[in-house]
Amino acid sequence: MLLPMSAPTIRWGFIATGWISGDAAADLGHAPGAVRHAVASRRLEKARQFAAEHGFARAYGSYAELLADPDVDAVYVATPHAQHWTVVNDAIAAGKPVLVEKAFTCTHAAAADLVERARAAGVFVMEAMWNRFQPGMRELRRRVADGHLGDVRAVHADLGFVNEYHHLARLVDPANGGGALLDTCVYPAAFAQWFLGTPDVVRAVGTLGPTGVDVEAGVLLGYPSGAHAVLSCGFTADWPGGATVVGTEGHAVVEPRMNHPPRILVHRRGRDVEVIDNPLGGQGLWHEFAHVGECLAAGLTESPVMPLDDTLGVMATLDQACDQVGTPHVDEGFPAA
Ligand SMILES: NC(=O)c1ccc[n+]([C@@H]2O[C@H](COP(=O)([O-])OP(=O)(O)OC[C@H]3O[C@@H](n4cnc5c(N)ncnc54)[C@H](OP(=O)(O)O)[C@@H]3O)[C@@H](O)[C@H]2O)c1
Repeated sequence: MLLPMSAPTIRWGFIATGWISGDAAADLGHAPGAVRHAVASRRLEKARQFAAEHGFARAYGSYAELLADPDVDAVYVATPHAQHWTVVNDAIAAGKPVLVEKAFTCTHAAAADLVERARAAGVFVMEAMWNRFQPGMRELRRRVADGHLGDVRAVHADLGFVNEYHHLARLVDPANGGGALLDTCVYPAAFAQWFLGTPDVVRAVGTLGPTGVDVEAGVLLGYPSGAHAVLSCGFTADWPGGATVVGTEGHAVVEPRMNHPPRILVHRRGRDVEVIDNPLGGQGLWHEFAHVGECLAAGLTESPVMPLDDTLGVMATLDQACDQVGTPHVDEGFPAA
């Protein structure tokens, strides 16, 4: 499923210096051809500290300066999702290929706007749905596409964790795109999208926490074929984080946690269980960076593994679920309709 060529040298520019930027910077060393070129923060001192810690050659005190660096081949955007629209919009305008963290944006409207701009400009943009690029997950996708499970009739998936309110404020901050649906249900939603496409029915129930965003939710999806998906997410309980694909000829169990599973078990009717290992190498984040390099070398403006239409389908699902549960979302800088 990945492109059959080796990754070229890509000089990466990291935008933002938070939690996941640090993890991705550490993992980048596993990606062939990936160079830690530049990092930008809203504060120069923070960028310098991050650059020193992770071995980036240049540090900038604004995101605009990094986007103006002609030696940056591609940018990784890891601000909270509420800022994704502004930063990705600026990156597209600067002609920089973009890998942007999930959730792509806070609303479907902002996502559709970015997709339109990226396609008009011919600039590569991809959502950082990292588990799609891990070897075991790619193998599962191949086997399902080859009919190993027969006709896929259902997907079950969950992801969540117990969040102490004082601990990770971003997760429950309405101004920063807080809420379990955007933060964790994005993985189950993208998993269902991978195997079943875009649903035509979305039914969500959930609970709002003290800050007014959803802290747990269940989502039922229906598809034109009659298939369905059941998704759960939250910050309130000990969700196992597994996923199952159910077909007419068998089912596959993605062992927890479904965004970086250790292995996948394929149960085909009348056969012994088949085990697909998922060797991550590092934390498993680097595969998506390597894939971007391969796409750019092949002259692609979209990923065949995480295409923008899939991102739009996921955002449409999450948008409806957020509306039904009652979490309002705003993308900073995106002109409201
Ligand atoms: N792939 C994964 O497994 C994974 C895991 C965690 C998070 N994520 C995603 O990555 C993104 C960032 O999450 P995170 O946990 O890394 O967040 P975080 O620790 O809060 O860091 C976010 C960074 O964004 C920058 N930023 C820009 N505008 C900001 C604003 N108005 N408020 C706060 N920070 C702002 C800051 O960097 P500067 O101060 O340097 O400008 C900040 O350090 C989110 O979209 C999240 O969903 C993905």
